[in-house]
Amino acid sequence: MGGAAEPVLAGRRIVLGVSGGIAAYKAVELCRRLVDAGAHVVPVLTEDAQRFVGALTFSALASEPARTDLFSGATGGDPIPHTRLGQGADLVIVAPATAKTLGKYAAGISDDLLCATLLATRAPVLVAPAMHTEMWEHPAVQDNLATLRRRGVHVVDPESGHLAGGDEGEGRLAAPERIFDVAVAVLAQGHDLAGVRVLVTAGGTREAIDPVRFVGNRSSGKMGYAVAEVAARRGAAVTLVTTQGRPVSSAIEVVRVTTAEDMHREVVARFPETDVVVMAAAVADFRPKVVAAEKLKKHDGVPEIVLEPTPDILAALGERKVAQLLVGFAAETERVRERAAEKLARKRVDLMVANDVSEPGAGFEVDTNRAVLVDSSGAEEDTPLLTKMALAGVIWDRVAERLGRAETREHP
Ligand code: CTP
Repeated sequence: MGGAAEPVLAGRRIVLGVSGGIAAYKAVELCRRLVDAGAHVVPVLTEDAQRFVGALTFSALASEPARTDLFSGATGGDPIPHTRLGQGADLVIVAPATAKTLGKYAAGISDDLLCATLLATRAPVLVAPAMHTEMWEHPAVQDNLATLRRRGVHVVDPESGHLAGGDEGEGRLAAPERIFDVAVAVLAQGHDLAGVRVLVTAGGTREAIDPVRFVGNRSSGKMGYAVAEVAARRGAAVTLVTTQGRPVSSAIEVVRVTTAEDMHREVVARFPETDVVVMAAAVADFRPKVVAAEKLKKHDGVPEIVLEPTPDILAALGERKVAQLLVGFAAETERVRERAAEKLARKRVDLMVANDVSEPGAGFEVDTNRAVLVDSSGAEEDTPLLTKMALAGVIWDRVAERLGRAETREHP
């Protein structure tokens, strides 16, 4: 498909990372194809890559001069190239990805411009490893790749064939046209929610006892923020109704709330103009019946706090829904599937994301989650332990299918 404009790539900003292996010469061909197809390509070369191919070769073909130095600002260039490159990218490709670069990326080591850019970006990342067979098969390399896959990194596996030094075997960089096709698939995936109006709730609600105390819960809001971020990245118009003040992409409309009542009001008001609601918030089920106007004082004795139920937002949406899709969460400590299926039916939910919060690595205040997805057709899907961002990706894959948005595409 060399030379043909590719609508998915037109105008998209791609950082093409090149690390040091003989296959670096094939990245020149990949760079040319991406530019020909209309992408804006910025090559980033490691020091070792420049032993194989000169930066000038890439600069001549790419949309911007090749970048090689994390500290180029010291000589008058861009003072923080890695954040600019990382934040501005729609996709980061690393081809070839050596064992060293994969290891540094998996371990979070940012000692060169490429690795710093990989850590600074929230764009999808695609790595195409290339190395000798013995290195490719080494458990250290395979463990690092498993870590990266779990974090949602796309991997284009190497092929079998001729390797440097006359050897043969698995480890040869995938063909540039294959890496190109996977890049197109990843970016196409990035837009499968274009035009979908999404409302996500996040965080735990706080129900006042008096002006300084509240009834609350341990929800950090991380799951809801991940769901909102991923939807925005995939092209949805996202409103986030949240009790938390975390930083979030500027593309997301944020509505701050405190109580279940506030959240109920804001969500119900927006529901008619919404296509998908994801209720990731931990809404308090009960609130104090009476809120003391003044701070309760110790010397008045131990207060007796009478609780009353809060509105069930998800159930209210279930009653009102016309064509909207509803996604609910269920935090359980036992009989996870059964309880999730029961909640799904009772609240008229389309997809329930249930997790066992008694399990380590799942639930509150952690970056990972393992879930069972139960849908209204009765289908169940167990996910492995995933980052919350990766789990959000799985949730949106299922929603996109329900909306008829899922393209027949390669899952790298
Ligand atoms: N939820 C809601 N409004 C509430 C309580 C919960 O919208 N007042 C939503 C949550 O955001 C979540 C789902 O309902 O998506 C499941 O919440 P959960 O508290 O587990 O369900 P409950 O119906 O409260 O069931 P139980 O108390 O039996 O666990």
